[in-house]
Amino acid sequence: MKRNLIMMLLPLALFATTTAQAFDKATIEKGEYLSRAGDCIACHSIPDGAPFAGGLAIDSPFGKIYSTNITPSKTAGIGNYTLAQFDAALRHGKRADGSNLYPAMPYPDYAMLTADDVKALYAYFMEGVAAVDQQAPTTALSFPFNQRWGISFWNWMFANDKAYQPQPSKSDNFNRGAYLVQGLGHCGSCHTPRGIAFQEKSYDESDASFLSGGKVGIWEAPSLRGGDKGALANWSKAEIIDYLANGRNNTTAVAGEMTSVITHSLSYLTQEDLAAIADYLKSLPGDGKALAMTAAATKKTSDELNSAKVGINSGARLYLDNCSACHFTEGQGAARVFPKLDGNALVNDEDPSGLIHVVLAGARLPSTKGTPEALAMPAFGWRLNDDEVAQLLTFVRHAWNNQAPAVTAEEVAKVRQTIPQSVMNATRP
Ligand code: HEC
Ligand code: HEC
Ligand code: HEC
Repeated sequence: MKRNLIMMLLPLALFATTTAQAFDKATIEKGEYLSRAGDCIACHSIPDGAPFAGGLAIDSPFGKIYSTNITPSKTAGIGNYTLAQFDAALRHGKRADGSNLYPAMPYPDYAMLTADDVKALYAYFMEGVAAVDQQAPTTALSFPFNQRWGISFWNWMFANDKAYQPQPSKSDNFNRGAYLVQGLGHCGSCHTPRGIAFQEKSYDESDASFLSGGKVGIWEAPSLRGGDKGALANWSKAEIIDYLANGRNNTTAVAGEMTSVITHSLSYLTQEDLAAIADYLKSLPGDGKALAMTAAATKKTSDELNSAKVGINSGARLYLDNCSACHFTEGQGAARVFPKLDGNALVNDEDPSGLIHVVLAGARLPSTKGTPEALAMPAFGWRLNDDEVAQLLTFVRHAWNNQAPAVTAEEVAKVRQTIPQSVMNATRP
């Protein structure tokens, strides 16, 4: 009897699950692609944790903010969110209970999204993601930052809440690129400088500060302005696309915080979307940050290196002994294998912390669909002392066409303190 009842209810249950499937496959797939473009996974997962289950601690000037579980779990995630509530969270920073989200969630950028794209994302998060019934840690900032209502004032003063308006005078490629960069890609959250209230100084190209360079911890997120004399003026469109897809191109290789953006997000985008992004960056008026590259400057440094004496611990000698095997005496590296140090943004950053970090701790290029080999730069922290790293980098920052201030042993010591010994010893023979 019992069994019969189950047999009778089974078609009903099947019927219930099929009708609950409110979205078609194409919409869910579109949502998955958009979630890649928005890099939701980077913040809403912990390394080796279940996708989108949250729990990542994000450092803010006010304390640690934990990302939430955005799987469709009804007990621990956003399973009870309606489309309207999901939209309010994504574009306006409002939680389902009506309270404000902290802007560690990049809603001032996501505000640019079209209603259609929000709907596709909703479809994916409701029906394409596996539910995880595990609560993420609760964010507990100290007073007054625990007063979420206070964020309303911040939103009113500083946040963007306008959807992207296509510009009819511009090409479709420009508009698609602008939409991706300003909105889902939230490139400005790292590459635009922050103002007094930690807000992005601008949200689109109408202001010269847009994408003119920002800071992520110790890493500089360089200017992305590609017009005449802009920081990316020396990059061709193809080089920008190659970098975004594979983390490397003929001249540069990615390190630091951008590595994860490429691994989890940009390497999944179509060539058309990457081309639109490149076109848009190339259209941004220059900010004068492009270095003048002359053959004479390159030759001068090569001569200096060729005459550096064995046994004398100068910056040039340290470069020859430790770096030139891969980056070469012309500082040109090797296309798609060893980045060029001549004119490199990280090398020329005013603040040398990120550069010091790469030398002490090494760096690893991501493995992407297009370029699976994960190349690594060895760690030199075990081998060079603070004074040697300072001399070496002072040389590199003046070599070839580079023009950046000298590095002191104290600056090296400060970065060294933040790196575990095991990391610096990783490549010790
Ligand atoms: C830069 C980090 C970051 C990225 C990228 C990000 N989020 Fe968030 N998100 C957060 C943080 C942190 C919170 C929690 C903020 C708080 O507690 O006030 C949050 C909260 C949310 C919430 C509210 C959930 C709740 O009930 O608390 C939703 C929905 C959400 N994010 C969806 C998304 C989607 C969809 C994407 C990708 C399009 C995304 N997020 C990308 C950091 C991020
Ligand atoms: C989480 C912060 C973050 C986000 C989001 C981010 N970037 Fe970056 N980006 C960085 C950092 C840090 C670097 C420097 C990497 C290095 O030194 O190797 C960088 C480097 C770059 C470079 C190389 C510039 C150069 O001169 O070497 C390009 C191009 C770039 N990003 C494009 C983008 C685009 C386009 C987006 C949005 C789709 C984006 N980034 C989003 C942090 C970020
Ligand atoms: C065995 C080869 C090798 C040696 C030796 C080497 N590097 Fe590298 N280096 C690499 C590779 C490969 C990368 C790309 C890794 C990445 O960026 O994630 C790299 C990246 C870098 C970067 C980051 C560039 C960027 O745009 O983010 C800098 C700066 C750098 N190396 C400087 C040095 C200095 C200074 C030395 C000498 C102390 C040195 N390297 C020695 C292979 C090497």
